[in-house]
Amino acid sequence: MANYFATVARGLEEIAAQELSDLGATNIIPDFTGVHFQGDKKLLYKVNLWARTIFRVLVPIAEVKSYNAQQLYRSVYNIDWSKYLHPKMTLAVNCTGKNKQLNHSHFTALQIKNSIVDWQYKKYGRRSDIDVKNPDLLVNGHINNNKCTLSLDSSASSLHRRGYRPAMGLAPLKETLAAAIIVMTEWTPELAFFDPLCGSGTLPIEAALKALNIAPGLYRDKFGFESWLDFDLLLWEEMIEEAKEQQLSKIPTVIFGSDRNYQIIEQANINARNCGIKNQISFKTQDLSEIVAPADRGVIICNPPYGKRLGTETELVELYKLLGDTFKQKFTGWTAYILTGSTALTKKVGLRTSQRIKVYNGMIPCTLLKYKLY
Ligand SMILES: C[S@@+](CC[C@H](N)C(=O)[O-])C[C@H]1O[C@@H](n2cnc3c(N)ncnc32)[C@H](O)[C@@H]1O
Repeated sequence: MANYFATVARGLEEIAAQELSDLGATNIIPDFTGVHFQGDKKLLYKVNLWARTIFRVLVPIAEVKSYNAQQLYRSVYNIDWSKYLHPKMTLAVNCTGKNKQLNHSHFTALQIKNSIVDWQYKKYGRRSDIDVKNPDLLVNGHINNNKCTLSLDSSASSLHRRGYRPAMGLAPLKETLAAAIIVMTEWTPELAFFDPLCGSGTLPIEAALKALNIAPGLYRDKFGFESWLDFDLLLWEEMIEEAKEQQLSKIPTVIFGSDRNYQIIEQANINARNCGIKNQISFKTQDLSEIVAPADRGVIICNPPYGKRLGTETELVELYKLLGDTFKQKFTGWTAYILTGSTALTKKVGLRTSQRIKVYNGMIPCTLLKYKLY
C-alpha cells in the first residue's frame, strides 16, 4: 500500500473523495484542495485513467525540513534519488506553498532541482537534463511551515486536459469542473440532457463520456508514471484494454447541446469527434429563444455568461430573463441547473430555486442553482 494525494479544485474535495472511493481507494481523507488516499500501483494507474474530477495524483516520497533555502537543499540532498531518477531521464520540479524564507515558488523549485542534479553529479558524474514541458520525472515540492513534502507527479500534466479539446470555445469550463457539476445534479444517463448555452460542448461531452462509461484518460497521450523506473507496461496495457472493453456502444437517452454561435458549435462537433462520440450527441446552432424540449422530462445544465468574462450588463439581464421564461414555458417536467457567478443576474431568472450549491470556477466563487419546473 502506498500513500497518494489527489489535487482537486477548491470545493470539489468531497466529490473527488467519493470518486476515489468508487475507484477502490482506501483511507480517504479530504483536505483543502486535495484528498489523501491509499492504494497499490494498479489503483494509481486506475485513478489517472478513470477519474473525472481530479487534477493530478501525487506520490509523496519524503517529508523534509525546509526552514530556509540552505536547509531545503541539504534535506533534498539526503534522499537517494537513484530510486526515481536516472541521468538519462529528464527532470522538472515545481513548487506550491510557502513560508517566510521560501516565499517564491520558482526560487524554491530551483533549490530542489539544484540539489537533485548535484546529488546525481556526485553519484554518476553526470546529471539529468531539465525539460519543463515534457519531463520523464516531475517532482513537486509543497512547503508547509518549515516542512517540505516531496512528491512525484504521476499525472505530469493536469488530468482536466483530457486530450479531446484542442478547440476552445469562449470561456469553456474545465472538463473536471463540468464532470463534478454533473455529479452535483440529479442527472443520470437514463434522463435526457440539454445544455442550451453549450459553447464548446464540455457539459454534454462529459455527460456522454459518463453515460458511455468511457475512461477520460483514454484520450491522453501520456501520463507521468509511464516514464518512471518502476513503470509496469504490461499492467497498464491490460488496464487500457479492460477500459476499452467496458465502453458502452449506445447512450440510453438523448444528449443535446445548442448555442447561437455557429463557430462554437463547429468546435463542439470537433471535440465530440475527437472523442469518437459525434454520433451520440446532437449539437445545433440556435438561439435560446428558439429551443424546444427534446423529451418530456430531463435535466438542463448550463453556464450562461455572467459578466466577469463575457457579455454586457443589459444583454445579460435579457439573457437571464429569457432563461427563466424558456424554462417555465417549454420545459415543464424538467429540472434545470444554472451555474453563474452573479447573484444579481440570477434574480432576473424569476423562478424559485430549490437548491443552491457553492462552486468555484477557477478563482471565481459561483453558485449552481437548481430549478424544479412544474
Ligand atoms: C460561458 S459560455 C459556455 C461555455 C461552455 N460551458 C463550454 O464549456 O464551452 C456561454 C455560451 O452562451 C452562448 N450564448 C449567449 N447568449 C446566447 C443566446 N441568446 N442563445 C444561445 N446561446 C447563447 C455563448 O455563445 C457562449 O458560448
